[in-house]
Amino acid sequence: RVVAVIMVGGPTKGTRFRPLSLNVPKPLFPIAGQPMVHHPIFACSRIPNLVQIYLIGFYEEREFALYVSSISNELRIPVRYLREDKPHGSAGGLYSFRDYIMEDSPSHIVLLNCDVCSSFPLPDMLEAHKKYGGMGTLLVNKVSAESANQFGELVADPETNELLHYTEKPETFVSDLINCGVYIFTPNIFSAIEDVLKQKKDRANLRRVSSFEALHSATKALPPDFVRLDQDILSPRAGKKELYTYQTLDFWEQIKTPGMSLRCSGLYLSQFRRTSPHLLASGDGKRTATIVGDVYIHPSAKVHPTSKIGPNVSISANARIGAGARLINCIILDDVEIMENAVVIHSIVGWKSSIGKWSRVQGEGDHNAKLGITILGEAVDVEDEVVVVNSIVLPNKTLNVSVQEEIIL
Ligand code: GDD
Repeated sequence: RVVAVIMVGGPTKGTRFRPLSLNVPKPLFPIAGQPMVHHPIFACSRIPNLVQIYLIGFYEEREFALYVSSISNELRIPVRYLREDKPHGSAGGLYSFRDYIMEDSPSHIVLLNCDVCSSFPLPDMLEAHKKYGGMGTLLVNKVSAESANQFGELVADPETNELLHYTEKPETFVSDLINCGVYIFTPNIFSAIEDVLKQKKDRANLRRVSSFEALHSATKALPPDFVRLDQDILSPRAGKKELYTYQTLDFWEQIKTPGMSLRCSGLYLSQFRRTSPHLLASGDGKRTATIVGDVYIHPSAKVHPTSKIGPNVSISANARIGAGARLINCIILDDVEIMENAVVIHSIVGWKSSIGKWSRVQGEGDHNAKLGITILGEAVDVEDEVVVVNSIVLPNKTLNVSVQEEIIL
């Protein structure tokens, strides 16, 4: 039996995702028309003998209630949200719900970060993990040497795939092989976390004896029940024949910023071509818009037949797209209205916003640059014939003049 756990974090995390995380928890932000966390959940649902999926976070329970009940029904697998009273770190969070996780006596626990975009090759990874025979297997990926320092960098044995060395976000380059935030563990992971908790307790007791050290470490010290999977477990246990790696050759990205959510939306839409073609708009027939490449349109959205949409566009519930509008590489959220002949390119348009006739909302398309795409927060009004380029507009603003490279507060 297998139990899957997805770490979703909480409201104090995901700050780089603003202003889009102001109205919805980041894990529920729509990517390719589905909540971010839906993609790893869907991938878990294909693991043989999966009995339960838990989401662990410190968001309010009610924020996830509707989603977990609908996805449980849809997939016919129980999905449950477990709330931490405060952040315990990625391993501490897992540990605090060990009784729930062990209820089904799983032989394996699949653990995933919710903010990664991947094809999640979980069944193959599970097979590899069983062959290695260790406590845990990490999904790893090669990235450019310049970007590696945003991740856990690691060295693996090319023959046995054993994890030999692990450093979390090092200042000096270690390796371009990085941790993808996707793991398979045996239940022994709980003893490994327990060991760390014990060491921390012992150290805290020692510190109480030495008041000098206490004075100097007080500001840096994390709470004693806070355990990070990467620094506290992976680093010290590398090279001990307990941890192994499985390299993905398919797509993998991290979703920390709105720009990356737009890029990942495109990656998942192109994956839908293979896995869920029914979710893609076809553009067949005279009464539908012209569709270019991979496009998702929610069934309740109204898209004028003379508009042209795609590639990489996803349009959420109740959006209205007017005659002659042109949309390329964008995410249009619920209840947005785009009027006649407006153009939206390399942008995210927030809930209930409206874009006037002949207006243009666009970015230059650099997903990594701070102002590489244009983002409109909730209920932003762009009046007729206004041009918005490479800008971020906070919620509830009205734009009646054109702007470029601006953050409008
Ligand atoms: N429930 C809960 N409680 N979730 C948490 C907590 C916590 O206290 N802390 C972090 N998370 C969740 C986050 O929401 C995210 O999904 C995941 O755990 C990892 O978050 P961080 O610990 O902030 O690490 P990171 O995202 O900067 O980096 C991690 O992931 C990278 C891959 O995306 C590291 O493991 C890196 O090594 C790795 O490359």
